[in-house]
Amino acid sequence: MKKRVGIIGFRGMVGSVLVERMRAEGDFELIEPVFLSTSQSGGQAPLGNEPIRSALSLEELLKLDVIVSCQGGDYTTQMHPELRKQGYSGYFIDAASTLRMAEGATIILDPVNRAQIDSALANGHKDFIGGNCTVSLMLMAIHGLYQRGLVEWVSSMTYQAASGAGAKNMRELLLQLGFIAERTSSVVANAAESALALDRAAANALADAALPQAEFGAPLALNLLPWIDKAVGEGATREEWKGHAESNKILGNDPEIPVDGICVRVGAMRCHSQGLTIKLKRDVPLDQIEGILREQNAWVKLVENERQATLAELSPKAVSGSLTVAIGRLKKLRMGPHYLGAFTVGDQLLWGAAEPLRRMLRILLER
Ligand code: HSE
Repeated sequence: MKKRVGIIGFRGMVGSVLVERMRAEGDFELIEPVFLSTSQSGGQAPLGNEPIRSALSLEELLKLDVIVSCQGGDYTTQMHPELRKQGYSGYFIDAASTLRMAEGATIILDPVNRAQIDSALANGHKDFIGGNCTVSLMLMAIHGLYQRGLVEWVSSMTYQAASGAGAKNMRELLLQLGFIAERTSSVVANAAESALALDRAAANALADAALPQAEFGAPLALNLLPWIDKAVGEGATREEWKGHAESNKILGNDPEIPVDGICVRVGAMRCHSQGLTIKLKRDVPLDQIEGILREQNAWVKLVENERQATLAELSPKAVSGSLTVAIGRLKKLRMGPHYLGAFTVGDQLLWGAAEPLRRMLRILLER
């Protein structure tokens, strides 16, 4: 009998990417899909014969074998404890961060930690949670080095896309670009205009109180924002804290391997990039490192460290909308032969969010 799989938050950004990927991979043919919504129950579901059910109805939720939630952290906080209290014994696959660090919950990134997922399943665990996008994308790019015991620490300086902040933020970035284009058009139209005049026009547009910035709280276009999420003390943000906490949980490191850096929002649409400094435990030649990275999973793409390949293949533009995780600019750093530099780009909505959830569902269906 097909498993009854509930999908919650299917109209949101991560949810829509998930449904799109599930269609592309034929996942819906293997399940009895049920679409649930917190606000639109009764309406026409995107697929199947059942109407949209209420995601706030415990009765509906208890009928599901698997729940896949892209509804966000508040929903998980509200519904998950109550569901388990009511004796729900199905699987809960979640994109939100709420349960990630909970004991008994597994952070899912199967190309990296399939063994951990299998052992959690064998031990009867039921909560499987997608990781933070930056963390998942970093591990997809370099887990081979960790798995060979080569990593002493990692510093990740991020360049995170607008999508990580939400759909409204993606729109706001485009609105900002449009606003700036409009306010600078007369200066731009004159090819003889001086650099200073161009700069003044752009600066005036950025300083204009009418520039849309309600979501980001500042201009992102022609700018960057070196602060993501809340402060967690010691000068760090929660996004930076996740880099260490989640990567160590995913890899099951004991002792932990330090990961730290500064997380920055930039004006890319849906790809997160990271400049990595990796302190290696020993001096491994670059060609061996390249071999390890090339072989670690089927999605990683090693980009040659030269200008043309880098501009063509190692950018948000090149990677956006694909499952490829690109890594390039590989070089030993001047600090010494143990210091490796690299740059990586991945789609924040695919490997960074929806794909690990979709693959977890497949793992359950294949059991
Ligand atoms: N927290 C991430 C960001 C997105 O703000 O880019 C989701 O993991």
